[in-house]
Amino acid sequence: MDFLVRPRDGALRGVVRVPSDKSIGHRAVILAALAEGTSTLTRFSFGEDNVSTLEAFAAMGVMHEVVERGDDPTSAKGGTLRVHGKGLFGLEQPHDARALDCGNSGTTMRLLSGLLCAQHFGTSLIGDASLTRRPMRRVLEPLRRRGALCKGRKHPTKDDETAPIVIAPLLDGEALGPSSEKLAVASAQVKSALLLSGLYAHGPTIVEEPTLSRDHTERMLLRVGVPLRAMGSIVQLDPAGWDGKIEAFELAIPGDISAAAFLVVAANLVPGSVVRVVDVGVNPTRTGALDVLRAMMGGAQIVPKGERGGEPVATLETGTAVDESGAGLHATSIGGELVPRAIDEIPVLCVAAARAKGKTVIRDAAELRVKESDRLATMASILRSFGVEASELPDGMEITGKPQGKLKAADVTSEGDHRIAMSSVLLGLRADGPSRIRDVDCVATSFPGFARVLRDLGADVEEVPSD
Ligand code: S3P
Repeated sequence: MDFLVRPRDGALRGVVRVPSDKSIGHRAVILAALAEGTSTLTRFSFGEDNVSTLEAFAAMGVMHEVVERGDDPTSAKGGTLRVHGKGLFGLEQPHDARALDCGNSGTTMRLLSGLLCAQHFGTSLIGDASLTRRPMRRVLEPLRRRGALCKGRKHPTKDDETAPIVIAPLLDGEALGPSSEKLAVASAQVKSALLLSGLYAHGPTIVEEPTLSRDHTERMLLRVGVPLRAMGSIVQLDPAGWDGKIEAFELAIPGDISAAAFLVVAANLVPGSVVRVVDVGVNPTRTGALDVLRAMMGGAQIVPKGERGGEPVATLETGTAVDESGAGLHATSIGGELVPRAIDEIPVLCVAAARAKGKTVIRDAAELRVKESDRLATMASILRSFGVEASELPDGMEITGKPQGKLKAADVTSEGDHRIAMSSVLLGLRADGPSRIRDVDCVATSFPGFARVLRDLGADVEEVPSD
């Protein structure tokens, strides 16, 4: 499918929800599978990435029931899922040595690598074409250092490993050893893989990051009774003396701030907009984009609404960006510790920069080159298609905003990357004619219902078959 975006003069107005947080969803399924007894997850959004994790566990004998599919992940109810946990040592080898398909989900592949290399059965992990280009040594190498027998295929272009990943079983009586890793780049996926493998290890797991990445794994492990301590960007899990029991739990998963960011930026861009996004997770390791937008004179007001499962939730109240002089967004610089806190929002922040006064400079973001696409290259090229001056840096981008007048309508392709597809739609909202965004089925990985939510707010975004 493609999106056809026809710019309108009217403002965006309304109260909306976004699908539940994909990162928390993965972790909730994993820990529910390892728990003793049945866990209930509500507001589970059944986005494709989360479903990849769910199906991988089904293939390892973890039964689940979809109590309510909740066809509309942006409704108040959402989906309800019951997962019948098998306990820490209850996973079974997938039948017929079937490979576990992680689809487009890097989080599924990296977190499962950690969990499965500690088992006494072998597995292999496969993924789609994009996943088969993504670097995996960053997770496999530290796992091997603690005794795991895992290997990826040689990367086609880099000195690295990629999917498929093959994991050999540990022998009877064997377990992984302790691990102490200082990560060169902050990564919640690598940290989480090490922590999950550490549930089974003899000895502690210590992970130190240059700056703290999203800490959903730590929060959830603590909540289900795993002995873990976190201080700043260092975390330690020491299973000594732990009975190995993970308590079953109930969790209503908060809305995904990475999805909400698209609506905040849309409201910041379209004059006169007033938008409220309710029930959004606002874990401080995820709110970097709101900090950046605030520095640009946009963003959203965070109205706290308590906590669920150790995760703070809030309503985001947002509208058109204006400073005291009546001007809109202002350029800013993005780098350092802000980058891991806004890692998935950089593409949509590029859109805000495209409409800001002045030159926005993004640095320290080389990681974007190894996401679902090379997001620095794809985003710079898409910005140029919409008539915005953008040049790539090795670890970032410079964008000269075009705050006045309209952008140039464009016909662009997402490169199969959901966040690029959605960012392009927002550029189309401010263009001088209809724009076409191609190859947008990928949006279902994280934000099923994206076009409909924008339509509910008053935008004209239509899904059309690709020609
Ligand atoms: C994620 C961590 C981040 C992020 C990804 C989800 C997670 O990746 O970009 O979308 O759920 O742990 P890295 O760990 O590679 O930075």
